[in-house]
Amino acid sequence: NQFHAHRIVVGVVILKRAFSSSAANATKVAVLGAAGGIGQPLSLLLKHNESISHLALYDIVNAPGVAADLSHINTHSKVTGYSPDNDGLKHAVTDATIIVIPAGVPRKPGMTRDDLFNTNAGIVKDLATAAAQYAPKAFMAVISNPVNSTSMIQKVTTLDVVRSSRFVSELKGTDPKNENILVVGGHSGVTIIPLISQSGAKFTDDELKALTHRIQFGGDEVVKAKAGTGSATLSMAFSASRFTNSLLRALNGENGVVEPAYVRSPLFESKGVEYFASNVELSREGVGKIHDLGPLSQYEKDLLEAALPELKKNIAKGVDFVHKQ
Ligand code: NAD
Ligand code: LMR
Repeated sequence: NQFHAHRIVVGVVILKRAFSSSAANATKVAVLGAAGGIGQPLSLLLKHNESISHLALYDIVNAPGVAADLSHINTHSKVTGYSPDNDGLKHAVTDATIIVIPAGVPRKPGMTRDDLFNTNAGIVKDLATAAAQYAPKAFMAVISNPVNSTSMIQKVTTLDVVRSSRFVSELKGTDPKNENILVVGGHSGVTIIPLISQSGAKFTDDELKALTHRIQFGGDEVVKAKAGTGSATLSMAFSASRFTNSLLRALNGENGVVEPAYVRSPLFESKGVEYFASNVELSREGVGKIHDLGPLSQYEKDLLEAALPELKKNIAKGVDFVHKQ
């Protein structure tokens, strides 16, 4: 129906309307694609999260094995694993508070994220449909690429800010945890817009250009280094774990939890770009206040101009996919 179609358009959604405080004490998180390169370390990190009482792992292969392994770790959450047999997907998502989706095919050298669309859009659609059916109140967060087309709220922008703070600290010789670089827009090539000027860091034009390029193509750096065996998994798992934890804190009533997220956004709607990543205050409803971008340098304004048409194309691709279903 229309509501489902709309949700799947862009893959994922803030679906939850009301989050009761009692639910906060019994928090189930489902990971779909849990046996993969991202899914396994992400599940490991989530097993360490004291706010989670039940970790449900689903994959088309080997999720029960990963779950058995993690279940021996002496943190308090229960871990269960499901395969497609015996309604595994249904059981994995039922009663989940948050559903994280790293299922799908990763890039090989020479591929763009967009080349993954045909395979991954179908996977995300099937998983999001099941989630909508069996866990209509859950929040979903999609990692599967190309996220500009497949998701509506995701942690990939977290990966971009994690990378930026590391790359800037390498250049400046500082501690990366003190470098907070906002990245807005989307998550592929020119749609990734680092707002380095707001950090107060001073770079030469050449340094700034090289740094921006490295942030925009950080994913390619890993794809190339992994030489055909996949793309970023560990830094992505770290980023997804951070985002999930921030969302859990906000759902538990903490104010002022801000993460960059790719969401349905009014910021550039007038230019026909309905989804955009910027700092978002997370809340009991998922997305709270969407922050504007703040002051931009001329260089960043030019990056934004280059990003908007590409983002518009990526979003239209996701929308068309759903309308053709
Ligand atoms: P991977 O191949 O190692 O793991 C993917 C897992 O998904 C596999 O275990 C596979 O069995 C499972 N899977 C496939 N179809 C499924 C289905 N229908 N239901 C459940 N599980 C299914 O890949 P990976 O390295 O973990 O990457 C996964 C996805 O994440 C890729 O699309 C990749 O491009 C994307 N990614 C996104 C970001 C980001 O910033 N958003 C970063 C890194 C990777
Ligand atoms: C990344 O930025 O590392 C991910 O989007 C994976 C990729 O394909 O580069």
